[in-house]
Amino acid sequence: MMEQNSTETIKIRDLFFVPLFTEADIRARVQALGTALTEQFGDKNPLFVSILSGAFVFASDLIRRFEGDCEVSFVKLASYAGTQSTGAVQVVMGLEKDLHGRHVIVVEDIVDTGRTLHHFIELLQDKSPASITTVTLLRKPDAVVFPITLDHIGFDITDRFVVGYGLDYDGLGRNLPGVYQLKS
Ligand code: IMP
Ligand code: MG
Repeated sequence: MMEQNSTETIKIRDLFFVPLFTEADIRARVQALGTALTEQFGDKNPLFVSILSGAFVFASDLIRRFEGDCEVSFVKLASYAGTQSTGAVQVVMGLEKDLHGRHVIVVEDIVDTGRTLHHFIELLQDKSPASITTVTLLRKPDAVVFPITLDHIGFDITDRFVVGYGLDYDGLGRNLPGVYQLKS
């Protein structure tokens, strides 16, 4: 159950969250990212690859701020069973497209340890794309654990759990227009 009150604290299941980024904050940042990507790839028909489920909201806004031809694809990833440090990821849906020679723009909602993106980029590299560019809406401070290059970052945040704008807590909160963080 999701409850909202006048102080803007919201409750999702058992937890309380407070606003971190408003819809307007996000819109301005996404516009800037779209402009940067247009400058880089506006005439290159890039393929946006959005990682489900969390990144679908960000991706849908981002592609509409991109000017030029582009294609869009979605992948769903699953973690192999294993320890945090060795667990790779497996593509369970998507990536049917031929990536050979394509400019691929990977769209992620949030990078925490970087584990998901690190392993996914390794998979992409095997498909010999022309380039791989990474875009994440949010980056947490632990993002250095796995070696990845993040080319475009929406916001750097502290290491606190967040929901909204595609991100969920136990399945809820994806439909919130802004991003909320766990109340301390
Ligand atoms: P990483 O593989 O450690 O970088 O974790 C990235 C994934 O963990 C994201 O794609 C999210 O699905 C999930 N995640 C990490 N932090 C949060 C958070 O604060 N809220 C919701 N999901 C998160
Ligand atoms: Mg994700």
